[in-house]
Amino acid sequence: KPVVLSGCQPSGELTIGNYLGALRQWVAMQDDHQCFYSLVDLHAITVRQEPEALRNACLDGLALYLACGVDHEKSTIFVQSHVPEHSQLAWILNCYTQMGELNRMTQYKDKSQKAEANMNAGLFTYPVLMAADILLYQADRVPVGDDQKQHLELARDIANRFNNIYGDTFTVPDPYIPEFGARVMSLQEPTKKMSKSDTNPGNFIGLLEDPKKITKKIKRAVTDSDEQARIYFDVQEKPGVSNLLSLLSCATGQTVEQLVPAYEDKMYGHLKGDVAEAVVEMLAPIQEKFHQYRQDQAFLNEVMRSGAEKASAQASSVLSKAYEAVGFIARP
Ligand code: AQP
Repeated sequence: KPVVLSGCQPSGELTIGNYLGALRQWVAMQDDHQCFYSLVDLHAITVRQEPEALRNACLDGLALYLACGVDHEKSTIFVQSHVPEHSQLAWILNCYTQMGELNRMTQYKDKSQKAEANMNAGLFTYPVLMAADILLYQADRVPVGDDQKQHLELARDIANRFNNIYGDTFTVPDPYIPEFGARVMSLQEPTKKMSKSDTNPGNFIGLLEDPKKITKKIKRAVTDSDEQARIYFDVQEKPGVSNLLSLLSCATGQTVEQLVPAYEDKMYGHLKGDVAEAVVEMLAPIQEKFHQYRQDQAFLNEVMRSGAEKASAQASSVLSKAYEAVGFIARP
């Protein structure tokens, strides 16, 4: 079976962007792929995290993976910091990545603008750690949202570079970007993507949010002011309405083309009401299951323990291969 690797950062509550762009694909890939799904806590500390909040976000994330349908018996679910090979391979790959390549990463540019007082080196080398995450499992496919495409390109370049120098060591991964839901936009600023760490909570919908709050946020979403207030899909002209239509499409399984005619004589309020209802309905079973998993710490521990064991087995063999390739002496 082809190998799949993906992860989410426990840098806040996972959003419907994380779900539609990534998690939903993960679940769909479980039967015909060998899947590794990680909570990438090492990545999360590139932005300052309060320790207790980070621990909770990690456990919440784990319970959410399960609640969204990731099956710990079919897939390997693990916490990144439990598998030290990620940091070890990242160091090696740092030495095969050019500063100029990292300088071109748009996420780094965005995040460093926001980081102000905390312009740490981790923010800069984040894509190298991500390359290590992927290459350690010899992943063939990486299901990610559109925002991660550039990082994945870099992982491919690093793998190719290493292979060209030392011979075939790493599998060169392909991105796997969903056709719909790959870019869920912010509710208040629909020209930027929805992010869980956004300072304005009105911009995102967390997977665990109360239905009333979800409805309120969607009703307040920015729509586009043109004179006729028509409802149609055009990302350039009508980013707010297009985002709502995409959300409705993802949540109902109907295409945007199928949905639009029903709104011909309707107002924005109608659309928002329907989107809110569909999103709440999509999240209801996830929220219910989340609470069951989250309360069962013994079960979560077992998922983490067995996941780390399976992930380590794979990661340690690939790390050894890389150590040998660069010329490190094997530990006697
Ligand atoms: N808005 C989005 N639309 C579609 N997919 C998205 N993803 C994130 N936001 C959207 C996908 O979710 C996966 C996990 O992302 P991540 O947690 O590793 O980090 P991120 O991409 O930086 O996501 P956030 O929510 O914006 O986190 P913060 O705010 O902490 O930086 C990835 O596959 C991503 O593509």
